[in-house]
Amino acid sequence: MEYADGGHHSTAYRIADLADRRDEVERIAEKRAIDRQHAKGKLTARERVDLLVDPGSFVELDQFARHRCTEFGMASNRPYGDGVVTGHATIDGRQVCLFSQDFTVFGGSMGEVFGEKVLKVMDLAMTIGCPVIGINDSGGARIQEGVVSLAHYAELGRRNALASGVIPQISMIMGPCAGGAVYSPAITDFTVMVDRTSHMFVTGPDVVHAVTGERVSTEALGGSATNSEVSGNAHHRAVDEEDAVDFVRTLLGYLPSNNVDGAPEFADETAPDLTPADLELDRIIPDSINQSYDMTEVIARIADDGDFLEIHAGFAPNMICAFARLEGRTIGVVANQPARQAGVIDIDASEKAARFVRFCDAFGIPILTLADVPGYLPGVDQERHGIIRRGAKLIYAYSEATVPKVTVVTRKAYGGGYAVMGSKHVGADVNIAWPTAEIAVMGAEGAVRVLRRRELAGLDGPERAAAERRFVDEYRDRHGGPYTAADRGYVDLVVQPSQTRLQVARAFRLLRGKRQVLPAKKHGNIPL
Ligand code: HXC
Repeated sequence: MEYADGGHHSTAYRIADLADRRDEVERIAEKRAIDRQHAKGKLTARERVDLLVDPGSFVELDQFARHRCTEFGMASNRPYGDGVVTGHATIDGRQVCLFSQDFTVFGGSMGEVFGEKVLKVMDLAMTIGCPVIGINDSGGARIQEGVVSLAHYAELGRRNALASGVIPQISMIMGPCAGGAVYSPAITDFTVMVDRTSHMFVTGPDVVHAVTGERVSTEALGGSATNSEVSGNAHHRAVDEEDAVDFVRTLLGYLPSNNVDGAPEFADETAPDLTPADLELDRIIPDSINQSYDMTEVIARIADDGDFLEIHAGFAPNMICAFARLEGRTIGVVANQPARQAGVIDIDASEKAARFVRFCDAFGIPILTLADVPGYLPGVDQERHGIIRRGAKLIYAYSEATVPKVTVVTRKAYGGGYAVMGSKHVGADVNIAWPTAEIAVMGAEGAVRVLRRRELAGLDGPERAAAERRFVDEYRDRHGGPYTAADRGYVDLVVQPSQTRLQVARAFRLLRGKRQVLPAKKHGNIPL
């Protein structure tokens, strides 16, 4: 190429030089990344960003940053970008900041410059108050850069902690993530994994074997099933990367950009009168207390368009956490699921719901609670694993939540389950019960076994069975039902199930102006 002054200081040379550098990053390096990533069924860091954001909206930052490490022969290998793509873009027209780790450069590991880039984009997100999305595909701290890598991971953890409750933070796990690449996501609000191609562990199977002698496959140790159903580290298990991106885009549609702004509002097109779907709720509760039904059917009949997005669906399925809209506005739904373990609250269910309630409260999202709960799960295993301490989290979370809270008791609300599932006593604003509600310390059978033990012990066979039936009926007549609680004002309204959508909408409308201030303190001390 000819340059006006024939030298490399000319404008034309510099423009051409920029094009060359861009070509190195966006075509040559990208081609290498495509070859490596596609062979593993994964997209590249750049392709993932393109899939996630509005077309043409991504502005990449620090594209030409390079590491400064001279150890382990690194001086001769200084790729542009240092293994992470960072920048800002829009999703459905709303601003987000993001970083996407490139596994094809030093295993997507975080060194000093990589860290500086990620911290910079986190700081930008905090400055402007927008969600930050981290796409993780990384071996964690870059071994060659030693303590500097650790320092930057710790700095990232601090950024995550300080951003918690200020801007929504979403992590996408898109490869074999280890070390800091999983600690940081663990602090964020939502973590999405992809089936088969993504893994999360503090240390991989080789280190596990070296340290403990255990042999375990990558999938069993940190696959998407393990993390979304057993450990609960992942809030969504996507079938592929496109599905993961769809989930994140949908999720963002329910969330405000920060803890000051409101969530996006949609047109209120909800029916002002009873609909056929509303009337179906009058038939949803089975006559037998021991028979189950699917609580998602209730949620679908309350939410706008019957739509809701379940969070943590595979983990503790006895508790449902979901985002939905009512009259075009986001609400968080916490509900027992009688179709799974009768909707009992175990450790996992308590922690799942507590974290969701705290997220909603931090971001001003009103909470609808649907209760049908036989209580906390008894058992040696649960006690040894700390159900006292971990079950208490849910009481704590509801009690400190100052957002509008509306509760509907559809059927059982027994014992601790009654108290914790959005009762008046933990601060709910409007409490509704269906006539099918049974609010009591425990179920009638259990109560009779305790209260009538001596009388029953003196009887045998059919005589004992008949007496037991009579006592159970007596107990249910006197202590079951919603009316003892309604008599005390613990329940504000007893409504026919078909009226629920309209009454809940009216309650949240009533509460739009709610202001509640908690006692001043540095911070509380939730039992961890
Ligand atoms: C530098 C790394 C790396 C790392 C992987 N690579 N992890 N380079 N630092 N941490 C490089 C590999 O050398 C290899 O380079 C390339 O990335 C691909 O790695 P493979 O091992 O071939 O890939 P795979 O078989 O898919 O295994 C992925 C993996 C494994 C499970 C992540 O690489 C692994 O176990 N890495 C180490 C994980 C780890 O212990 N990290 C440190 C954690 S300490 P070449 O050149 O061969 O392609 C930490 C503390 C944070 O993170 C503190 C937070 C507060």
